[in-house]
Amino acid sequence: MTDFPDTTETFPEQETTQTEPTIITVGEGAGTGGQELGYDVVIGNGLLARLPQLIGHQAERVLVIHPRALRATGDVVREDLEKAGYQAMVAEIPDAEEGKHIQVAAFCWQVLGQNDFTRSDAVVSVGGGAVSDLAGFVASTWLRGVRVVHMPTTLLGMVDAAVGGKTGINTAEGKNLVGTFHQPAGVLADLDTLISLPRNELVAGLAEVVKCGFIADERILEIIESSPEQAQNPHSEQLRELIIRAIQVKVDVVSKDAYESGVREHINYGHTLGHAIELAERYQWRHGAAISVGMVFAAELARSLGRIDDDLVDRHRNILTSLGLPITYRDDRWNQLLEGIRRDKKNRGDTLRFVLLNGQGQPATVEIPDASILFAAYQEIGEPASPTISL
Ligand SMILES: NC(=O)c1ccc[n+]([C@@H]2O[C@H](COP(=O)([O-])OP(=O)(O)OC[C@H]3O[C@@H](n4cnc5c(N)ncnc54)[C@H](O)[C@@H]3O)[C@@H](O)[C@H]2O)c1
Repeated sequence: MTDFPDTTETFPEQETTQTEPTIITVGEGAGTGGQELGYDVVIGNGLLARLPQLIGHQAERVLVIHPRALRATGDVVREDLEKAGYQAMVAEIPDAEEGKHIQVAAFCWQVLGQNDFTRSDAVVSVGGGAVSDLAGFVASTWLRGVRVVHMPTTLLGMVDAAVGGKTGINTAEGKNLVGTFHQPAGVLADLDTLISLPRNELVAGLAEVVKCGFIADERILEIIESSPEQAQNPHSEQLRELIIRAIQVKVDVVSKDAYESGVREHINYGHTLGHAIELAERYQWRHGAAISVGMVFAAELARSLGRIDDDLVDRHRNILTSLGLPITYRDDRWNQLLEGIRRDKKNRGDTLRFVLLNGQGQPATVEIPDASILFAAYQEIGEPASPTISL
């Protein structure tokens, strides 16, 4: 497998250009979150002062949920909310997937209960997708739904998890099997938080950005092609533009299909094989790395069905490789992967369904009548298993 960037490295300090924030509105008008679409996603630098605006004045108490790794940021958010006149408290939860457990949700419900949170009070998530999924779930279930504002601090959180209202926790049987649809009352994507994000987390998030390029916005691909280095630099104008564009793609899709019954499936481009790889690797691969391979597989599948040409397949490989993302997977795991593919939520009965491209920016959900077609495409991405794989 292509080497994945080092796990601890972050970007060196640099001056970040301060510009006016960009605001993308999801749905129409100002909603209150919950079942209603109608909220702002604010993207920019130094956005903390805008948090009260998104929380609203009816809330008296605010619970800030953050993982241990973001204690300092969580404290700053809490202090700022206190200064703005809220009664603010924090719930520190275990990091990453460890936080997406029913026991952690129960701990948060306990904090809400002990502090007399009412229906007009609010929850704020500070962290990556794991935290927004858990905090969203807690907010959607407390008193049958209170407001939640997400402050995503990972690239994946900004361009994907915090927008769209899906919440989730894991069970012993699998990831995200329990969850709700609960729209946030607002999302604050403060680009300054990405400076401390390990480089491999940033690159993994870029896989979702590339996905948005292939399914909808070609300009995303052009920006990365013109400078893959700047695309990975949290201080760069290029990354800012990529984030804004990727969020816009997600918002466009979610606005058409809030409950994932139709076009929202397209946002799952690359995810069918990607999820199967994550399962086969027992979630030791980053999601972004797995869907990177999944996108190349989907491109090969589309080519074999005569839907796209060689150039578009090559474009997948070139862009993903330029970011250091993997594009191959071990060739001795097909049966295991096929089992994972059969569990995909897009399938209907025994019919396998994949999101494929009919051309650049033209996704469609396609029924695959015969698994042998998949196996043939897999031959194009398989490589001999090596004992020296590095992640
Ligand atoms: N609800 C949705 O629509 C949706 C969509 C995509 C993914 N998800 C979920 O999102 C989760 C993955 O999200 P993720 O990739 O953000 O992972 P994550 O939330 O686990 O965060 C990754 C790691 O980065 C650390 N971190 C976060 N922000 C940091 C920062 N600014 N500086 C330094 N470290 C930081 C975290 O503590 C964690 O260790 C999965 O659970 C997935 O199921 C949900």
